[in-house]
Amino acid sequence: MDPVDSAGGGRRPGLTKGGGGTSVADRPLLEVEGLHTQFRTDDGLVRAVDGVDLTIGRGEVLAVVGESGCGKSIMARSILRLIDKPGRITGGHIRVHTEDAVVDMATADGPAVRTVRGRKIAMVFQEPIAAMSPMHTLGNQLGEAVRLHEGADKKEARKRSVELLRRVGIPAPERRIDEYPFQMSGGMLQRVMIAMALSCGPELLIADEPTTALDVTTQAQILDLLRSLQQDTGMAVMLITHDLGVAAQMADRVAVMYLGRVVEDGPLDDVFRAPRHPYTKALLGSVPKLGSGSRARLTPVRGMVPSAYRRPSGCPFHPRCDAFMAGRCDVTVPTPVREPDRPGAVSCLLYEEDSA
Ligand SMILES: Nc1ncnc2c1ncn2[C@@H]1O[C@H](COP(=O)(O)OP(=O)(O)OP(=O)(O)O)[C@@H](O)[C@H]1O
Ligand SMILES: [Mg+2]
Repeated sequence: MDPVDSAGGGRRPGLTKGGGGTSVADRPLLEVEGLHTQFRTDDGLVRAVDGVDLTIGRGEVLAVVGESGCGKSIMARSILRLIDKPGRITGGHIRVHTEDAVVDMATADGPAVRTVRGRKIAMVFQEPIAAMSPMHTLGNQLGEAVRLHEGADKKEARKRSVELLRRVGIPAPERRIDEYPFQMSGGMLQRVMIAMALSCGPELLIADEPTTALDVTTQAQILDLLRSLQQDTGMAVMLITHDLGVAAQMADRVAVMYLGRVVEDGPLDDVFRAPRHPYTKALLGSVPKLGSGSRARLTPVRGMVPSAYRRPSGCPFHPRCDAFMAGRCDVTVPTPVREPDRPGAVSCLLYEEDSA
């Protein structure tokens, strides 16, 4: 992995002491503002993240939803500066509020990045096996993480690793700790990955499609585990999923992404019961509803996510939108609109005052 750690300049880029008067508890844990992450390839420029704004409060569960290729993973990896070359954060802010400083992960230098990555914010990926070394036992890998974060000696680290494995529901952890990843099922491995992420007591856990590679029963078990750990520890969770059912079960708030932008966000109930953006409406129309009867028809979102190299002008959703207004939506890029009686925002010209 080759994290891009070169952004910014000065002695300690991205680090600001103090919190400007308000206490830590009053400030959101994470504020992403105008984030841009791009890949310059031989075939052209991919604007994978193209102006994302979002916040996560302490202890909050935010689901990030959207079709494949909308930039969910690249956004999440940008937060931890885990973008491989030729990817690069080209603009915006990723402010992480800690007790004594604000770290802007968009511009922070290596040492500042390491105060956040794996300590304040940890991440769990879709394919646990790819994130683990096949050559080392669980004990070695988990123990390493514990030693790194807590400075524990070998014996203590092993004890703590067994505790962590028990906490994530691994049966007979004293025995299984000496096994290798290939000896474990996908569900068990995902539990181990969650244990590793928890080893540092993060304030935010980013889980990128943590159950997509698992069968349905195991999916439900992992989601239950995440929910109970979240409740026990009070950590915030960013749950990235293309499964709206998963989002509905888990989230307090939802951010809907399309082509590198958050097009709508708000409390789960508001967004799911009364979606505003045509893309959110279309996404929700493509999911079965309980009690709607076996004859209810599902309508997939019309058309396909366009090629990353051919980004539509104006609102990127306009070629697929049922509410398309010619001469407006294909020209003007919508900005987030906030309504006084509703938390969250929607980026659609239908809601901009001068659109009539
Ligand atoms: N290394 C890379 N080089 C060029 N483009 C890339 C690279 N990695 C990702 N992209 C592009 O960035 C865009 C966003 O990708 P990303 O993986 O974030 O999507 P996603 O929303 O996580 O999709 P999925 O639901 O399939 O995981 C896509 O168009 C993808 O092709
Ligand atoms: Mg992804």
